[in-house]
Amino acid sequence: MLTVLADHLAKARAVLAPEVFDYYASGAGAETTRDEASAAWSRFRLRPWPLRDVASVDTSVELFGQHFATPVAVAPSAFHQLAADGAESASGSGAAAAGSLFVLSTRASVPVTDFGTHMQGLSAPWWFQVYVMQQRDVTLRIVEAAAAAGARALVLTGDTPYVGRKRKVAGVRIAVPDDEFLVNVRPYLPEDIRSDNAAARAAAAQDPSITLETIDWLSRATGLPVLVKGVLRGDAAQDCVDAGASGIVVSNHAGRQLDRAVPSAMALAEVAAAVGDQVPVLVDGGITSGLDVLVALALGARAVMVGRPVLWGLAAEGAAGVTSALDALTEDLRHNLALAGVTRADAVPPDLVVRA
Ligand code: FNR
Repeated sequence: MLTVLADHLAKARAVLAPEVFDYYASGAGAETTRDEASAAWSRFRLRPWPLRDVASVDTSVELFGQHFATPVAVAPSAFHQLAADGAESASGSGAAAAGSLFVLSTRASVPVTDFGTHMQGLSAPWWFQVYVMQQRDVTLRIVEAAAAAGARALVLTGDTPYVGRKRKVAGVRIAVPDDEFLVNVRPYLPEDIRSDNAAARAAAAQDPSITLETIDWLSRATGLPVLVKGVLRGDAAQDCVDAGASGIVVSNHAGRQLDRAVPSAMALAEVAAAVGDQVPVLVDGGITSGLDVLVALALGARAVMVGRPVLWGLAAEGAAGVTSALDALTEDLRHNLALAGVTRADAVPPDLVVRA
């Protein structure tokens, strides 16, 4: 883990309420998948090219016609208000300053419309992550609002039919007040349950019956590209593409859903091979250094996302902490691209990497 990230983690642990720290840090079950994520990236070894002109290294990438200074993006994560005042507006500012893509969670602490206005003011592209809720109409109205607010793509999370059970936080109700929990749900609920907190929370629960058809439904409703997040198999990735997905995010949800799911680092090559050039593949989970990013790019990812490192940065230093975490990852990537003899983050040859 990069020193900047380790410093943020230590500071976050000190400043956050213990139940909030545990909520962010926890994995599902015995936390096997959470614990294996980072180490899995270091199981690969690099085969560098000597004597290449690496005086200038370009870390920028393009996704759906949008240009980003770095392939390191912000993964969608819930309730940034628990980490710091300013919530997603602060983390969005931090990401924009680093030139990173920001993905806003359905469970954000700020209204999607306000967030869109904020990001428009920064001229920063952002995407919206979708949980399809029990009340399908509510989901539809939220994604329509996200599209109208300027989201450039939707990220449909496919690994959360039910929220994974986390032992450490079992019985501890995270202090997310109803108004905050429902900030992106209540305005879109039918009149009769809008002021009924229990009914509203039930309507907002994930719909466990959703299938591949959801991809096309979301893209028709908004005209936006839909990426599917939470893919760990090549055949599943191809099924998503066949059903209309415009991108795949290899992810096990930071080990917070199915425990004993394979590490993203182990699944990435299979997914990238199955998908080929059809659509971009992104990956997240346990990325804490530029070397991890470099391995991910060599294994076929167009970009990576980071979740907890952003939350720790936000808790430690607000927007500036988010920027310094993302900048540190990008600078470490730049340095290691040069040492590997590669000058472009968007053209890392697959044969740079071998499994140790
Ligand atoms: C998440 N993640 C997540 N994913 C999603 O699709 N919607 C969400 O609302 C959330 N919320 C969330 C909260 C917290 C506290 C964490 C840690 C994670 C998963 C997230 O998008 C991403 O897949 C992982 O966080 C990536 O792993 P690292 O970088 O945290 O190791």
